[in-house]
Amino acid sequence: MDKVKIAFIGCGGIAGWHLSHLVNQDDVEYLGFCDIIPERAENFKQRTGGTAKTYTDYRVMLDEITPDAVYICVPPHCHGEIEFKVIDKGIPFLVEKPMALDYKLAEKICEAAEAKGLITAVGFQDRYLGIIDKTKEYIKGKKIGLVTGAWVGGIPGVWWWRKMETSGGQIVEQNIHIFDMTRNLFGEPARIYASAGKGIVDPEAAGVPGYDVDDYSSAVITFKNGIIATLYTADYVVAGGGMQNGLNIYCPDATIEYGLRSFVKYRDASGEEVTHNEFDSGITEDKVFINAVKTGDPGAIRSPYRDALSSLKLVLAANESITTGKPVEL
Ligand SMILES: NC(=O)c1ccc[n+]([C@@H]2O[C@H](COP(=O)([O-])OP(=O)(O)OC[C@H]3O[C@@H](n4cnc5c(N)ncnc54)[C@H](O)[C@@H]3O)[C@@H](O)[C@H]2O)c1
Repeated sequence: MDKVKIAFIGCGGIAGWHLSHLVNQDDVEYLGFCDIIPERAENFKQRTGGTAKTYTDYRVMLDEITPDAVYICVPPHCHGEIEFKVIDKGIPFLVEKPMALDYKLAEKICEAAEAKGLITAVGFQDRYLGIIDKTKEYIKGKKIGLVTGAWVGGIPGVWWWRKMETSGGQIVEQNIHIFDMTRNLFGEPARIYASAGKGIVDPEAAGVPGYDVDDYSSAVITFKNGIIATLYTADYVVAGGGMQNGLNIYCPDATIEYGLRSFVKYRDASGEEVTHNEFDSGITEDKVFINAVKTGDPGAIRSPYRDALSSLKLVLAANESITTGKPVEL
């Protein structure tokens, strides 16, 4: 296969970001764009030479055209039937995180894709950050006790974000990237306890009527190897600034600061070393996925569906702990 024929289901914000990478690849061809808002699919068609077909119903699209791969970029509450149709047609797919809001559903999707031997990828682009590869090397053999981390900021503009039933809340929709990063760096978690608060965001004043997600939370994850990570999540901090999102890692002989998608700083007896991230790791994410489909070899995909399931389980367990007030064993 010289060119990978692709289709998109969902042509919103993140899909546009993937498309902005793919248009710079010469091994991609566009067969179809589907969005329930027709102008969005039409916009993607125009951006890619005007030959692709546009659809408002993914079922019609997948009955009419036969792509080699599909990007599934719909809001978190829209998963399920879409994946089962794609899997039924035997098409490899890249799906955005969070892959579902119900763990059992995500597990069924995973099993169905595996039963068909399909290549899958999940949108954890931070898995491809060079500064994280470097950090993995740096911490190899080091003792780590404590980790702290944060994703603190404001409320994203998409309508579905502000409701638990459509986004799963900020831990599940957004901070899942850092929760996944802790698995990538420290291995599998054993237990999580989380607590959350509300009452700072005024939905009317903030222009988010119907808002019901938590304003802030703190989650303590105990990893199987004994590392304890405390991760903060908040969406009410819209002014002030100056506080770094990312991770702080504490070793007896070094401290490591990961600035979200932007830098890593190591401090140890030899001094301080800072490395800045120069790349959009999504470019690598998309290249790796397209190449996997082209070659039939998924080996370079760093976040296949099966692995991403464990990150989904972790963030959904954080929500469960917030609701029950009890720790969740994983
Ligand atoms: N990896 C990342 O860094 C990252 C960043 C942003 C968003 N995301 C994730 O990507 C997903 C989409 O987010 P977004 O910001 O692009 O949202 P969005 O609202 O901008 O886009 C989603 C699109 O899906 C369309 N859609 C909904 N149901 C559909 C259906 N049944 N068939 C076809 N189209 C349908 C909507 O009309 C919309 O255009 C979310 O899960 C989000 O968490 C990931």
